[in-house]
Amino acid sequence: MDFNDQSIGNYNAKSNRYHELNYRKCGNSGLFLPPISIGLWHNFGHPDSFTNARQILRTAFDNGVTHFDLANNYGPPFGAAEETFGRLLEKDFRPYRDELIISTKAGYDMWAGPYGNFGSRKHLIASIDKSLKSMGLDYVDIFYHHRPDPNTPLEETMGALEQIVRQGKALYVGVSNYSAEQTKEAAQILKSMGIQLLIHQPRYNIFDRQVENGLLDELEVQGAGAIAFSPLAQGILTDKYLKGLPENSRAVKDGRYLNKTHITDEVLAKVKGLNEIAKERGQSLAQMAIAWLLKDERITSVLVGVSSPKQMLENVKAAEQISFTKTELKQIETILDS
Ligand SMILES: NC(=O)c1ccc[n+]([C@@H]2O[C@H](COP(=O)([O-])OP(=O)(O)OC[C@H]3O[C@@H](n4cnc5c(N)ncnc54)[C@H](OP(=O)(O)O)[C@@H]3O)[C@@H](O)[C@H]2O)c1
Repeated sequence: MDFNDQSIGNYNAKSNRYHELNYRKCGNSGLFLPPISIGLWHNFGHPDSFTNARQILRTAFDNGVTHFDLANNYGPPFGAAEETFGRLLEKDFRPYRDELIISTKAGYDMWAGPYGNFGSRKHLIASIDKSLKSMGLDYVDIFYHHRPDPNTPLEETMGALEQIVRQGKALYVGVSNYSAEQTKEAAQILKSMGIQLLIHQPRYNIFDRQVENGLLDELEVQGAGAIAFSPLAQGILTDKYLKGLPENSRAVKDGRYLNKTHITDEVLAKVKGLNEIAKERGQSLAQMAIAWLLKDERITSVLVGVSSPKQMLENVKAAEQISFTKTELKQIETILDS
């Protein structure tokens, strides 16, 4: 990644950027999030183009996407996305800091040894300090515990989140990949310390609906919001794999988390059917997949990844049409059951 990119000029955000999106309240908090947020898991690492990364975030913000989601280990290598974001903040977004919700996380593998992952106070406090330094920030807006830790008492992990808020290093806290039961316990512990669980970040898309088995109900009880990650099943819920495996697609280019073994004929048959419904609605499949999540008011935001500004633009337009007829919903269920 070449940070000395001179190919695009200075950035002035579009003045009409707040005209299009309806911001959604995050649980019972006072914080509003855009219906579509952008994640930096892929496409912001060392092998990627800095100019492209820069154009992706500019396009997002110009279209009202105020929320950028990171984690300590996004890359590759681990930490690279935060470093890239730090450069982008310096070049383009510093004047807009108060208009942005920036999140990061700790919990997955980050550095060597027993303190480099999971949920000990040691890991979380060291990690937030590292993240703030990499990004050039005084605080993040949301700090998440990235995954449950079977070996650390939840009181310790939540205590670390509380400490991070009290120290002013994060304004709000969230959890990710926690079950309904773990979320309930986490929210109760935080509450006992005077902190509200702001948000949960689970995987949720048309093909993976585990959150419907209790988690979304529990979040409502706890007054917490939800931000759905991998809403396009990493790209499967688009029309891109319908005609083979494009060279520049995640399944071919990266392969760490998505590869051709996930894109079976059975999956493609369903994608084809869903694509037809999307066309009838006047949307692309990507847009319909995002809209399908936003139809539920409990979903505060849908957290997309994109490899180009064009995809960003397409995805953000999903918010223009988020209602579904009963017939459309039934047709979708029929395809999923087939
Ligand atoms: N908390 C967690 O444990 C966790 C886990 C995973 C992700 N996340 C967060 O969620 C974010 C999104 O996850 P994700 O990247 O898996 O999301 P996703 O939106 O399901 O997949 C993103 C990929 O889909 C393809 N795509 C997106 N829009 C498209 C369009 N309009 N047309 C065609 N293809 C399109 C692109 O792949 P190509 O490269 O093939 O173009 C893009 O990189 C991450 O960046 C991260 O912030 C969190």
